[in-house]
Amino acid sequence: MATTLWPTLEPPAPREFLPRHVAIIMDGNGRWASRRGLVRVRGHEAGVESVRDCVRYSGQTHLKALTLYAFSTENWKRPRTEVTYLMRLLKKYLIEERDELHANGVRLTSIGRVEELPKDVRECLEHVQEHTAGNRGLTLSLALNYGSQDEIRDAARALAGKVARGELSADEIDEAQVAAHLHTAGLPPVDLLIRTAGEQRISNFLLWQASGADFHVAQPCWPDFRRADLIEAMLAYAGRRKGAALAGPREPA
Ligand code: IPE
Ligand code: IPE
Ligand code: MG
Repeated sequence: MATTLWPTLEPPAPREFLPRHVAIIMDGNGRWASRRGLVRVRGHEAGVESVRDCVRYSGQTHLKALTLYAFSTENWKRPRTEVTYLMRLLKKYLIEERDELHANGVRLTSIGRVEELPKDVRECLEHVQEHTAGNRGLTLSLALNYGSQDEIRDAARALAGKVARGELSADEIDEAQVAAHLHTAGLPPVDLLIRTAGEQRISNFLLWQASGADFHVAQPCWPDFRRADLIEAMLAYAGRRKGAALAGPREPA
């Protein structure tokens, strides 16, 4: 089967007003399914099409980075059948999308404790990451077994270790040092954080990285979320930036 090459699209607003890094808390799969009288996993399955559409659009408009919250550290508490299904779905996505992502210059990365994922899923993930590592287009980062507090604690431990070994002094620990010890090291900060299904919770996602981000709550459940909804969030973001640019620099206090 020939691989689809994505035609470039004009971004929805001048680039200077648009986010460089968008992160999405993909929520509402279960609700989407139950409202249709379906089992929850049908919602997860349907959500894959939303992932495809948003990834393509992000690639087509030359967004720098898109981070998707796919599985949290808390999500292990869900019924085992659901967890197994989610893992299987992830593996299927990686296998099916590898060539298209690669052909379109997408670099796949992950954040979270991926070493705790089932071995076959982890190997598949590592394979696609290695395969696309040299790409310079969109960075698609999948948050898997991710928890922001865990991540910050691990960074604190790593920095403390460096101080204990005399490699770093405590005074040298600044924002850049902390950022460099997070899983997102090298990625720009999150400019726009979207959560679907009308929820207003952060759910332990990118607490450090999204500290300056705009938060956009989208009403559709994730399986109904498409590029039009992403564009709406980006335009709202751009509108605020344009407004600020027109207002000019703030007077010093
Ligand atoms: C998001 O949808 C998918 C994951 C967390 C993996 P949910 O499964 O949380 O759906 P709701 O929130 O129960 O509707
Ligand atoms: C957040 O959604 C995690 C992901 C989208 C993977 P959840 O549905 O798991 O979060 P809570 O339980 O509403 O906080
Ligand atoms: Mg949920």
